[in-house]
Amino acid sequence: MLERLKPQPADAILHLMQAFRDDPRPGRIDLGVGVYKDAAGRTPVMAAVRRAERRIWEEEETKTYTSMAGDAAFLDAMRRMILGRTDGAAIATVGGTGALRQALDLVRGTTPEATVWLSAPTWPNHPALIDHAGLRRAEYRYLDPATGGIDLPGLMEDLGRVAPGDIVLLHGCCHNPTGANPTEEEWGIIAALLERAGAIPLIDLAYQGFGDGVEADAAATRRLAAQLPQAMIAASCSKSFGIYRERAGALLVLGGVRALVQDNLAALNRMTISFPPDHGARVVATILDDPGLNAEWRAELEAIRLGMIRTREALAGALTAACGTDRFAFVARHRGMFSRLGLPPAQVEALRRDHGVYMLGDSRINIAGLRAEDVPRLAEAVAATG
Ligand code: LMR
Repeated sequence: MLERLKPQPADAILHLMQAFRDDPRPGRIDLGVGVYKDAAGRTPVMAAVRRAERRIWEEEETKTYTSMAGDAAFLDAMRRMILGRTDGAAIATVGGTGALRQALDLVRGTTPEATVWLSAPTWPNHPALIDHAGLRRAEYRYLDPATGGIDLPGLMEDLGRVAPGDIVLLHGCCHNPTGANPTEEEWGIIAALLERAGAIPLIDLAYQGFGDGVEADAAATRRLAAQLPQAMIAASCSKSFGIYRERAGALLVLGGVRALVQDNLAALNRMTISFPPDHGARVVATILDDPGLNAEWRAELEAIRLGMIRTREALAGALTAACGTDRFAFVARHRGMFSRLGLPPAQVEALRRDHGVYMLGDSRINIAGLRAEDVPRLAEAVAATG
């Protein structure tokens, strides 16, 4: 058996993370993996999370199994945060990636002939997950490199070719890797296209609260969930609660006969992970269900969000000044953790080699990891290598 194994392709994001750690140069700048960092370059535990953990430590009386679907209070709290209501089938998952995995398993078990449509570009793990699930995939145009915004005509043309029962993977907010997000009106167009095609949205919601606010970032998901007869939402708690390593997430599935869908989702958990992890989920439920902790968490998240917008404005200004062009103005308009600068691979390589600036090969930068004091140096390095 083992002699048949093949070397696996390096994951671009994790490979870069390791290369940065191995680089001894002081002052190097890490814009790789999507993790929030404070002014000191640390990824702190949020105060509301610490308080919730303390409460759980004091009050939790057992660590026996929850249920195959996960803790009911967590699932209700997630439904309320995402949908503003508590209907639909739901399971706790191993992070947002686990939710995607279970959603794709559900598709494979029901409609293996379906094509899963991905934005071009998308998070590199999306195609890998789809291939691993043995499903067919196709791309729809998304980014207009000339403007750094959405290529609406291209997107409409491509989504016009979606067949009934196909799955369209959408980033509910804060598109990864581009940072370009549809307007409300454009979401309306996307929803209408899917409705006309009889397609099912699979919404990857990993950055709620990082774009325009907790409620605003759920608006597109709520619209799609209300308008379409069936929808799946793969939600991650990693970023919004800063609990990356706890692997907390949920899959919500709307439509169909709820009890039957719920039964099938629970069986998917049983066959893959048996019971979902509980600690991160319990932290999230404790925060969301307690008005004081909820308010504290929202204030912390909002401070992070506003800090990212300030960083975006500072970087757009610094790039304009250093490069003598406004071609990077889109950085200020984008929302979420990421923007793709649109630099050629050779320049990305030169930035790493000559300036210790680490960004993904497609020039995606993690705004949430960029310290204010590094903004001028980054802009100068981009100008020097351009
Ligand atoms: C990212 O895109 O950097 C994050 O979603 C982390 C990951 O798992 O890739």
